[in-house]
Amino acid sequence: MTPAPRILVFDSGVGGLSILDALKQRLGGCEFVYASDNAAFPYGVKSQAYLVERVDAVLKRLIKEVEPDIIVVACNTASTVVLPSIRDHFKAPVVGVVPAIKPAVALSRTGVIGLLATPGTVNRDYTQTLIKQFASDCEIVKVGSSRLVEIAEQALRGNSPDKSELGGILAPLFAADKLDTIVLACTHFPLIAQELKDASPRSVNWIDSGEAIARRVESLIAQNPVNQALSNKISTPALSTKAIFTKASDEINSLRGALLKFGCDNIAFCEDIALFEGLK
Ligand code: DGL
Repeated sequence: MTPAPRILVFDSGVGGLSILDALKQRLGGCEFVYASDNAAFPYGVKSQAYLVERVDAVLKRLIKEVEPDIIVVACNTASTVVLPSIRDHFKAPVVGVVPAIKPAVALSRTGVIGLLATPGTVNRDYTQTLIKQFASDCEIVKVGSSRLVEIAEQALRGNSPDKSELGGILAPLFAADKLDTIVLACTHFPLIAQELKDASPRSVNWIDSGEAIARRVESLIAQNPVNQALSNKISTPALSTKAIFTKASDEINSLRGALLKFGCDNIAFCEDIALFEGLK
């Protein structure tokens, strides 16, 4: 029997689990490996030069370990800066997760759109180019928050977000009266989507990249005739998912329950990757 395509889903922390979830819903017949570069978390406040070197080194190591057929960089902060350099020299196709500006423009009636991401992502040239390309007629209200990343990490460890703190983070978006759509441009944020909705003063459209990424990966799989039959096997019993962390710590124990919910029943560590402290 042909082995199921193996897909490596990579993020700085637990955010990529939101993408893993969307992938599993569409491509249940694939084998997934989740990887978190928790040794270098958070990425949102790191320099671009640091991220280019770090992600390259981590992915090289993970590729040796996992031998993936497809790599998903399930992190907007990394994808908006590292994609050109890593696509250059990795054999497996690389799918990046970038802010869903285009679908937000299609959905918004007022043309006033919120972009909620890490400080890194909101300031990237890549993000400005996306806005110029797809949203030149729109008003984009940007909020970059590392605190929200931390809140999502903690939520998966069983610590519920504080509603008024979330309300405070969202306030600059809702200060724009006509804003009707918010792009969750950090993979951590869909993990607390309900809490964000509950903390919002009015109802708006919320957009994330999960489904679009799953469709993209599905089309890559279908391009390979060997894999074609597998791409639709949604009912196949789910294969065990390994979660690899770049730093072992007892603290990972508090994540076990959440990891299990995403089907990650096997935790492993891959610590032999040099940290580029000098470049931070
Ligand atoms: N999950 C990552 C993203 O989509 C960012 C988290 C971090 O700052 O490390 O941007």
